[in-house]
Amino acid sequence: MPPTTSLFRSKPETIKPILDDIEEQFDLDEEALTSITTQFLADFNHGLSEYGEAMGDDVGPTFVQGVPNGTETGTFLALDLGGTNLRVCQVELRGDKTFTLRQQKYKVSEALKTGEAVTLFDYMADSVDAFLTSSPSGVASLPPSLDEEEKDPLPLGLTFSFPVEQTALDQGYLLTWTKGFSAKNAIGRDIVKLLQDAFDKKHLHVKCVALVNDTVGTLLSRAYTAGGCILGAIFGTGTNGAYVEKVQNIPKLKNSATVLRGDDMIVNTEWGGFNNSRTVLPTTPFDNKLDRESINPRKQAYEKFISGMYLGEITRNILVALVDAAPHPILFKGKASDALNQHYGLDSEIMSHIEEAWNSEAHGPTAEVVTVKLPVSDETEHPHAEKLTEKILLDFTKPLTAATIEPHTLHRLQRIRSVIVARLGYAPEDVSLRDAAVVRWACSIVARRAALLSGCAVAVVARQMGFVKGLGKDAVSEGEGPIAVGVDGSLIQFYPQFEATMREALRLLVGETIEKRIDIGLAKDGSGVGAALCALQAVKQQQGS
Ligand code: BGC
Repeated sequence: MPPTTSLFRSKPETIKPILDDIEEQFDLDEEALTSITTQFLADFNHGLSEYGEAMGDDVGPTFVQGVPNGTETGTFLALDLGGTNLRVCQVELRGDKTFTLRQQKYKVSEALKTGEAVTLFDYMADSVDAFLTSSPSGVASLPPSLDEEEKDPLPLGLTFSFPVEQTALDQGYLLTWTKGFSAKNAIGRDIVKLLQDAFDKKHLHVKCVALVNDTVGTLLSRAYTAGGCILGAIFGTGTNGAYVEKVQNIPKLKNSATVLRGDDMIVNTEWGGFNNSRTVLPTTPFDNKLDRESINPRKQAYEKFISGMYLGEITRNILVALVDAAPHPILFKGKASDALNQHYGLDSEIMSHIEEAWNSEAHGPTAEVVTVKLPVSDETEHPHAEKLTEKILLDFTKPLTAATIEPHTLHRLQRIRSVIVARLGYAPEDVSLRDAAVVRWACSIVARRAALLSGCAVAVVARQMGFVKGLGKDAVSEGEGPIAVGVDGSLIQFYPQFEATMREALRLLVGETIEKRIDIGLAKDGSGVGAALCALQAVKQQQGS
């Protein structure tokens, strides 16, 4: 009987093999990573050549030609839609690699995400209106020539972080929604026009001059602050990357006049849609359940393995299966809290807190994020406590109590227990030390797989741009000097070990020399600054310079 089947015949002695089997399904060795990356590279190049190929509809030219160097100046409005919040910003580029930014966030409700698109765009226009009227002093600092009714309208750059077929800097048609958005009557429509119509309806003296993906914004903003950048990548609610490509390597652009103006163009890879057929992605039943119940089944496959929107749900699927194991429940005495029962009830932020609680060196049972009092029954430290390895923590044939565990491990588990109680709504008496160990294990296998797979995407770009020849054992570094990568997103910023694990995959895929050259830097406020830089480019193009 294969071990996972034992979920339905669980006994203490079969639990460890069940967990080992699940872990094996999430494991990615060098061979698996190399074959995923090889396939990714092939699909990606098809995507650059023709529309309609694997990844082909989504891999997109951006009409952003050229990367800033930090000397750019000007003040622009930026509007950023792509996740939980809508942000309106006013960005002043100071020409010395620095900028100032004033911003206001507005919540995007579920009703807006899933209602009529026109309502969503009206809300966006209302937010810009509120921003402009709420702070007259801010608006006054926009260049005077742009500030007066009779003069040119205020130029605005829109960061719109969904797959778009871009046909000009200020024109792009929505291909599909992602990240839980499904607003009606938007697919196939020009996003800039939808926004401009909403501005015009409200008589706002604002003109949307540029449309930009958040990855492009991240690339441009890191280039502005660091003096150069070749890849902008997001590892947050969603995932995606944009990089600088030679125009001659984008056959699907054919001989478009815009293109012939420059040598390079930023390409939005939309790598979240890689391998939607799931031929190489290491799919488990927990992933299938997530996909089946998502609002975009069979789409954004790669994103569903990697990004913050989904990691919590994959983990929840594992935990629920363990709660349901019978006749011997593996978790929480067979009980589920409301949060655990709820679709998307476990946020990846909770996983991050659980892993932080495990990694933190601080002593004492309470993690920083919570202040819950726990029962003390099995927590008294034993002077002869045995040093247990992580594996033994999951061995259900051995007792796991304060008496059988060394103090450092005990404190880590107690901190995790506090997070589970505070964030998953369990009663303290329903969370044993063993439960804490199992929850942490589930979080770590899901997040580790995500970080390793993220490394594949970065390796594809390094290979595509010629920094490395070959992959895996055949990888040979080309050239020298740092390879600047701008990143943004909650996982890369806050998830413990995410970048370190991504680098582990990179060492396997492109070799240590290249991995060391890859200089990953946070592009703070990348979406806002990137949109401002694009708006600047658009204004310059309009002025013919
Ligand atoms: C979208 C991309 C975006 C990424 C990160 C994905 O769901 O398709 O356009 O760049 O999320 O926000």
